[in-house]
Amino acid sequence: MKIAVTGKGGVGKTTLTSLLAYSCVDLGYNVLAIDADPSPCLGASLGFPTEKLAGLSPIAKMDELIYERTGAEPGTTGGYFKLNPRVDDIPDRFSAVHRGIRLLELGAVELGGAGCICPESAMLRSLITHILLRRDEMVLLDMYAGVEHLGRATADAVDAMLIVVEPTARSLATAAQIKKLAQDIKLPNLYLVGSKISGDDDRGFVTAHSPGLEVLGFVPNDARVREADRLGKNLHDLAPELASVARSIVVAVKDRIASPQEA
Ligand SMILES: Nc1ncnc2c1ncn2[C@@H]1O[C@H](COP(=O)(O)OP(=O)(O)O)[C@@H](O)[C@H]1O
Ligand SMILES: [Mg+2]
Repeated sequence: MKIAVTGKGGVGKTTLTSLLAYSCVDLGYNVLAIDADPSPCLGASLGFPTEKLAGLSPIAKMDELIYERTGAEPGTTGGYFKLNPRVDDIPDRFSAVHRGIRLLELGAVELGGAGCICPESAMLRSLITHILLRRDEMVLLDMYAGVEHLGRATADAVDAMLIVVEPTARSLATAAQIKKLAQDIKLPNLYLVGSKISGDDDRGFVTAHSPGLEVLGFVPNDARVREADRLGKNLHDLAPELASVARSIVVAVKDRIASPQEA
């Protein structure tokens, strides 16, 4: 399965992706977790040891690699470069593995069709397409914001997208925008996940204001999220209740994918 996690900034996308990753490991999947945030933080949320994180560099910033593969210097436009550079070795070579989770940092991603035409975007586009179409792991894509960055071709390969929302009007308005963009690129299987939920009021608010999407789970507002961050530990180990919410979301996504809804 290939699952994209989106939503307004700060709602809890990375926190959820981290929980999902460990749940997938528990369920027996090999996991490839992709951090598509320009300032990567999924690794820390996953509790990767600092020495493993220190060895990682976002692909978008690997100028020499981009030059080697595309034939052009990153940042240049107008010249010739390969639109389909070789990328098949990248996920294994430039990632780190911790407790069954392979982590790849992409850096700033501009994957949209006609957007940026430059060597680094060609490289990232090829890479993400390769990952979505050729890798057989459970792929979790922690997206920076909405789906603006996801092109038509890549949207085809995403099995489901989770839109994370806080119980606030603004976050639900963003979810409605993301839903519209996702439908424009015909992304199927869109769901909401409530985040930082403090009780029935919050639960009810999210359900009542959902832009017509099923809510697959509610992640409680929990002080251990901050504690995990401060201790450099993963939340999965620290908060079994949150781990079990994530696990039920993975199971629900799997069930839904088996019988897809129309986009
Ligand atoms: N379930 C939660 N309970 C309490 N705080 C949370 C929860 N989820 C996220 N947070 C806090 O919200 C902030 C943003 O979370 P993060 O997962 O990085 O969001 P995003 O990836 O969407 O920007 C962090 O400070 C995090 O500690
Ligand atoms: Mg994040």
